[in-house]
Amino acid sequence: MSDRRDILVTSALPYANGPIHLGHLLEYIQTDIWARYQKLRGENCHYVCADDAHGTAIMLRAEREGITPEQLIERIQKEHEEDFAGFLINFDNYYSTHSEENREFASYIYERLRDSGHIATRTITQAYDPEKGMFLADRFIKGTCPKCKTPDQYGDNCEACGATYTPMELIEPQSVHSGATPEERDSEHYFFTLPDMADFLHEWTRSGTLQPQMANKLAEWLEAGLQDWDISRDAPYFGFEIPDAPGKYFYVWLDAPVGYLASFKNLCSQRSDLDFDHYWKADSKAEVYHFIGKDIINFHALFWPAMLKTAGFRTPTAINCHGFVTVNGQKMSKSRGTFIMANTYLKHLHPEYLRYYFAAKLTSGVDDMDLNLDDFIQKVNSDLVGKVVNIASRSAGFITKQFDGKLGGEITEPERLREFVEAGEEIAGYYEEREFGRAMKRIMELADKANQYVDEEKPWVLIKDESTRDQVQAISTNALNMFRILMTYLAPVLPETAENSAAFLNTTLDWQKLDDHLLDHGINKFKPLMKRIDRKQIDAMLEASKEAVAEDQKPAGTKTQESNVDPIAPQIEFDDFAKVDLRVARIENAEHVEGADKLLKLTLDIGEQRQVFAGIKSAYAPEDLIGRLTVMVANLKPRKMKFGTSEGMVLAAGPGGSDIWLLAPDSGATPGLRIM
Ligand code: MSP
Ligand code: ZN
Repeated sequence: MSDRRDILVTSALPYANGPIHLGHLLEYIQTDIWARYQKLRGENCHYVCADDAHGTAIMLRAEREGITPEQLIERIQKEHEEDFAGFLINFDNYYSTHSEENREFASYIYERLRDSGHIATRTITQAYDPEKGMFLADRFIKGTCPKCKTPDQYGDNCEACGATYTPMELIEPQSVHSGATPEERDSEHYFFTLPDMADFLHEWTRSGTLQPQMANKLAEWLEAGLQDWDISRDAPYFGFEIPDAPGKYFYVWLDAPVGYLASFKNLCSQRSDLDFDHYWKADSKAEVYHFIGKDIINFHALFWPAMLKTAGFRTPTAINCHGFVTVNGQKMSKSRGTFIMANTYLKHLHPEYLRYYFAAKLTSGVDDMDLNLDDFIQKVNSDLVGKVVNIASRSAGFITKQFDGKLGGEITEPERLREFVEAGEEIAGYYEEREFGRAMKRIMELADKANQYVDEEKPWVLIKDESTRDQVQAISTNALNMFRILMTYLAPVLPETAENSAAFLNTTLDWQKLDDHLLDHGINKFKPLMKRIDRKQIDAMLEASKEAVAEDQKPAGTKTQESNVDPIAPQIEFDDFAKVDLRVARIENAEHVEGADKLLKLTLDIGEQRQVFAGIKSAYAPEDLIGRLTVMVANLKPRKMKFGTSEGMVLAAGPGGSDIWLLAPDSGATPGLRIM
């Protein structure tokens, strides 16, 4: 029998429709540090996660990119996994909610809810896009505010006057997908009758599973009364079809948390020593912790425990909520360049800088976390490089050069070393409680003590005198043993530097053996363990972030180094394209338009004559155009403009300004030739 704790840890499952950014990383870093700490302490701890792969947003993005949702989620999952690996996030399993295990668990839980009488069906009226053939959530409808008449407002409330309304109350409502006018349609929906679970949830949310701030928030919601939770969506939807309801799909938030079970189940199938039921049966003695952001507390502390309870599974031991990341005191901003993607960061900076900075500022609370970039540079350089690594770099040289790489045979400062070892329990307590900031503070106090010790002893003076030479070996031996203990404490936060330090010290870092000092022990040549951050790296990262954001808003396959290209419009059918009648046109005449900055008036010959106004004045003088060939859309409906009627449109390519390219000089092609 072992008395190791069995612990399952999860982070929220990131949506598979966008890249990982530094905001997300607070959570994955926090969870990873905690899971690594448990493992380092010898506990039986497993950390699982997955991509959250379902929902309308993913379906529509795939459609925009002209690929299947399966292709999209596969690509995004690969990107996510690379980003996480780059930040040294050490999952035991990373899976997907679009998996067989998840389908089975989601269906199983649904059937248990249904069979115990907690599923109701009801017909609801909803906006429907007749062109796309799909129901529309409020945020996919835009129109003019019925109250203050501000145009371009979303379907639930007005950003200008704050009015709330239903989408159909908008003046001239439009589907953002197709521009079509939404209709009202009825549809049957499935609901989880949450009010049945009110007593259970009252008790559960008060039983120490939540941080006090979160428990209070939930108490407010419970006080206000629970409502049935709509768990179905109509086709077309990317998700799992509800077993007894063809054409109805589980709402993404129903199967998302089930992904925790699925990912763990999948891990169990790879590992003979892991038993799923041991962790998830109703009376399990194992511990289960969900790390999440405060924005998704209702899903995790109301719906999820209610689902688990009803379906006969255990409920989580605790839900650990964190706050939101701001950069330089403000919400992450695309235009300021502070919307920083994981992979942009990694091109400029080492992942452990951020891991340390977050750790140094993390508490067990839900306060927001500011990533102040000046403070970031200062803290990393002064704590990690200036304090911790400094202990090793200033002592290693003596041992390597003067003592043949051999540490001394005795700790000559046992009292000092004892303080380092004894601090271990205090630091462990901070890690366990997720008070990482306190743990880092205590570790830095010890690092200061180690440096003060070396400062006082002045080995660089003692080494000059043969009679005090041996003292230098003793001092360096004491200091390097202090360093070894500190790196053990820092290993959950700085896994790579800890590993490199262990290699340098020619040992392993073991929290259970803090007392086993390295004596008469050969160490390896010291290589710099960590570099200082240079302000230039930060500036380059911010610059690159502005570009990266623009890139991500474009579909795959069109990504270029340009940052100001519009995203490709929704795909059209071949039939739509075939309606466009493209003709070779000879420019018979071109002239300035009185009072227009951009327009030229062209007379085109396509076998018949057309007058077209084209916004190409920035690139061409009229006399340069006469006699050239271009391509025109010949069947565009004539448009009345301020200066006259335009009877078609000429095609051109180029970014604009002086770079707009029409076609060649007259090569003899026949005007009016149809191009297909
Ligand atoms: N897919 C859901 C979670 C399903 S869990 C069963 C989701 N995905 S998310 O990608 O939007 O967010 C993933 C996690 O990152 C959430 O816990 C969220 O709170 C967290 N964060 C996203 N942006 C964040 C910040 N700017 N700051 C801190 N955490 C943030 O929600
Ligand atoms: Zn308004």
